[in-house]
Amino acid sequence: MSAPRRFRIAAIPADGVGKEVVGAGRELLDALAARSAGTFAFDWQEFGWGCEYYARTGRMMAENGLEVLKDFDAIYFGAVGWPGVPDHVSLWGLRLAICQNFDQWANVRPVRFLPGVRSPLRRADLSGAGETELDWVVVRENSEGEYAGLGGRNFAGRGPGGEVAVQSALFTEVGCERIMRFAFDLARTRGRPKVSSVTKSNAQQYGMVLWDDVFKRVALDYPDVETESVLVDAMSAKFVLHPEELSVVVASNLHADILSDLGSALAGSLGLAASANLNPEGRFPSMFEPVHGSAPDIAGQGLANPIGAVGSAALMLEHLGLPEQAARLHGAIEVTTASGILTRDLGGTASTGDVTKALIDALST
Ligand SMILES: NC(=O)c1ccc[n+]([C@@H]2O[C@H](COP(=O)([O-])OP(=O)(O)OC[C@H]3O[C@@H](n4cnc5c(N)ncnc54)[C@H](O)[C@@H]3O)[C@@H](O)[C@H]2O)c1
Repeated sequence: MSAPRRFRIAAIPADGVGKEVVGAGRELLDALAARSAGTFAFDWQEFGWGCEYYARTGRMMAENGLEVLKDFDAIYFGAVGWPGVPDHVSLWGLRLAICQNFDQWANVRPVRFLPGVRSPLRRADLSGAGETELDWVVVRENSEGEYAGLGGRNFAGRGPGGEVAVQSALFTEVGCERIMRFAFDLARTRGRPKVSSVTKSNAQQYGMVLWDDVFKRVALDYPDVETESVLVDAMSAKFVLHPEELSVVVASNLHADILSDLGSALAGSLGLAASANLNPEGRFPSMFEPVHGSAPDIAGQGLANPIGAVGSAALMLEHLGLPEQAARLHGAIEVTTASGILTRDLGGTASTGDVTKALIDALST
């Protein structure tokens, strides 16, 4: 028998429910490896970075953290943020530090209905038959835009009550083009090859007009892919009123961040949404994490829904070249939700551990 393929994975659970859901995802991945007849295995290394680490050291991650992470095959991340540490300090000190320094410029966030999950968009019948369908992918530009970190605050010059802050968005032709080509290539792999670009070029006449221009130019190379360009305000309404018209939605860092939370709420809960932060060239490891945050309101109580983290583990498996294993995880998620084993956010009474156990049991079915 040949030696198993071994994947070196850095686990960063970080804060709050991040710890609970990363624990659940790791259990699922190890269960898959245990059932693989020795064909693959995960070598985990866990890093205790986050807000507790900050309280002890004044840093969100080790000083050489990026150096340490760069040789892993992938990073499996929980969520960062805890009361007592300003959110911009925790986010920039860990998650954004990794995404931006590792040029993880494509953030992929799939959204779809799951069997047995009641969505605000669904009516009485949970089967989905004959109802609005929801199955799209938000592709988020993850390296620039509104989260480029450009700007400053004037504390001194204008006296009390006169402070000024500038927060600039950065749009580059290269950055727009690469995320749009990624979206078009992804659209070609889907049942409905369509890309919807989210814009706000009516009000933001520089960055967003460049975004639109690049979208039109890139679209010429994909004549087989249907396109539309929709203002972000109208797109918010479209998510709710005509989700069946969407397939791949490409948007800037801020727009996609907001719209994907809306999308996951429409699918039933923020706890369901998975995401991948990809460095498509493979120069750096990519990072996989649920869309939700650290949820301090429910942390430590066994209430966290692990499905977003498990779905993120499935995205990691696809990235590692194990699509059939990813499909097994998706299948286990569907079996579990269909059988009504749901956490409180989905109207159920199951704990994080109950759902994790059900998911593992479903791997064998
Ligand atoms: N990627 C990240 O690390 C990330 C993303 C968003 C927010 N945050 C941080 O998380 C902290 C809390 O932010 P927030 O409250 O705005 O967003 P949040 O996503 O943590 O929580 C929003 C709501 O969704 C619920 N929720 C979240 N995850 C859930 C899960 N797995 N199961 C069930 N319910 C879940 C929470 O209980 C809460 O009611 C802040 O410090 C914020 O900066 C981090």
